[in-house]
Amino acid sequence: MSSSVQLKHLSEELDLLEAEAANKIAEASDGETLEKLRLNFLGKKGRLSIVLGAMGKLPGNERPLVGQRANLLKSQLQELISQRLEVLKSQALEKLLAQETIDVTAPPSGIPQGHRHPLVTTTEKIIDLFSGLGYQVVEGPELESDFYNFEALNIPPNHPARDMQDTFYLDKSFLLRTHTSPVQIRYLENNHPPIRIVSPGRVYRRDSVDATHSPVFHQVEVLAIDEGLDFSHLRGTVMAFLKAFFGDLPIRFRASYFPFTEPSAEVDVQWRGKWLEVMGCGMVDPAVLEGMGIDPERWTGFAAGLGVERFCMVKHGIDDIRRFYTNDLRFLEQF
Ligand code: PHE
Repeated sequence: MSSSVQLKHLSEELDLLEAEAANKIAEASDGETLEKLRLNFLGKKGRLSIVLGAMGKLPGNERPLVGQRANLLKSQLQELISQRLEVLKSQALEKLLAQETIDVTAPPSGIPQGHRHPLVTTTEKIIDLFSGLGYQVVEGPELESDFYNFEALNIPPNHPARDMQDTFYLDKSFLLRTHTSPVQIRYLENNHPPIRIVSPGRVYRRDSVDATHSPVFHQVEVLAIDEGLDFSHLRGTVMAFLKAFFGDLPIRFRASYFPFTEPSAEVDVQWRGKWLEVMGCGMVDPAVLEGMGIDPERWTGFAAGLGVERFCMVKHGIDDIRRFYTNDLRFLEQF
């Protein structure tokens, strides 16, 4: 009798152990807890060892029953523990990966971002408007020869027009271009009408620096040559362009003189109550066309040249041209 009570007792203890251990292992949230559970259930002084130890008191024929059961439980619990350990490990890894993930598409924080200079955006806006009218963008060199900068533009040696522009000469025949008009000549050398080009770039003049002068500044040249072009096309194009750029500022054309255009005009916009010159223009002089082997009886054209700094100053209400070149971030960051 007493031996069967003991057997029942040990079997119940194993049932309890099984249920409790399975629950606790499933709930263990880290490796340390799991290791404590392993010692508690499977360690040398653990609860399973106690059951196995007590087994010695069972009658011999009952021992194998409890022994088998206990061994089976031991291997079941070992399996549960190692499975749980794997789960915990992979959860920890996932968490780590989530923490360490770098979103390469996220915008950088705290890194100052540069942006385009107002003269660049102004140039692009001007180019954009002419591109929309079908003009092609071309560029020319800043180091020019006397021929392209003056002679081919109907400004012969000793012509008084050369006094209009004080020039940086490198030697007798090379110079820093004083305007973008030489691009007209370079383009006409290699292309036949009909032509519509727009040409942005730096130009150089021996001016002393003040609020409205800089020895280096930027121009955009415009040239159209086709059959039947007359002054109304020039005027219409310039008016449409200025309106698109400035909005509704008052505009006026003033008769003027350039050796390479005839007739010529300067265009003013009214700004802060004053008329301000923003561009020169005119019908391409027949002598220039003839010089380039183009028949002026068949082809006519118009040209215009504008100062980018002026355009930007009027557009944004900037009072001093020097602000464009001194790289003061407080100024630049406003655009
Ligand atoms: N090249 C002239 C200047 O720099 C501007 C201009 C260009 C005038 C084209 C007429 C035609 O002043």
